[in-house]
Amino acid sequence: MNQPDAHMLFPPPGHAKAPVVLALPTPQATTDLAEWLAPRLGPGDVLLLSGEIGAGKTHFARKLIQARLAALGRAEDVPSPTFTLVQVYDVGDTEIWHSDLYRLTSADEAVELGLTEAFDTAICLVEWPDRLGDLAPAKALGMHFSDGPEPDSRLLTLSFSDLRWGVLIDALPIERQRNV
Ligand SMILES: Nc1ncnc2c1ncn2[C@@H]1O[C@H](COP(=O)(O)OP(=O)(O)O)[C@@H](O)[C@H]1O
Ligand SMILES: [Mg+2]
Repeated sequence: MNQPDAHMLFPPPGHAKAPVVLALPTPQATTDLAEWLAPRLGPGDVLLLSGEIGAGKTHFARKLIQARLAALGRAEDVPSPTFTLVQVYDVGDTEIWHSDLYRLTSADEAVELGLTEAFDTAICLVEWPDRLGDLAPAKALGMHFSDGPEPDSRLLTLSFSDLRWGVLIDALPIERQRNV
């Protein structure tokens, strides 16, 4: 099947509100953001992590999951779900579903994996969300990682239509970039 260019699907359908752009000048800045968000997410929260290979999607997801595990006194490896497609973490009160859909053959496969159901019952971190087509939930927070001005810097573009994310983003302890 011909996959459309991921850029053409950003922001994903239903995410037409003015996006917010954050600078992530170092990998640690991305870690800090993941650790800030981790305790603030609950069942039904879906983060759609887009951007090219090496953009920082897995780095962000790994730090977020590890922060949630650390809060329970657990330290675990968080491998990239490149080949398994989905890794599920029990974080006590809920689950975190970390998925990498790069190798998904059809959107239906996401249903078979149980991912679409998890969108309502777990915290879901989805890499390559363009593979979902119109199964991507409109309530999700779109997080697009792109190159920044330095080799180790990234820009993060947040898009959403659910007001929940607007409230959370307003509370972010990170300065917004001027929209470019
Ligand atoms: N500002 C940054 N934020 C996140 N990762 C960064 C940043 N700068 C450099 N990196 C590096 O880029 C790489 C991103 O890899 P990864 O997270 O696996 O990418 P992806 O999952 O998007 O393909 C990591 O080696 C990470 O250390
Ligand atoms: Mg990845």
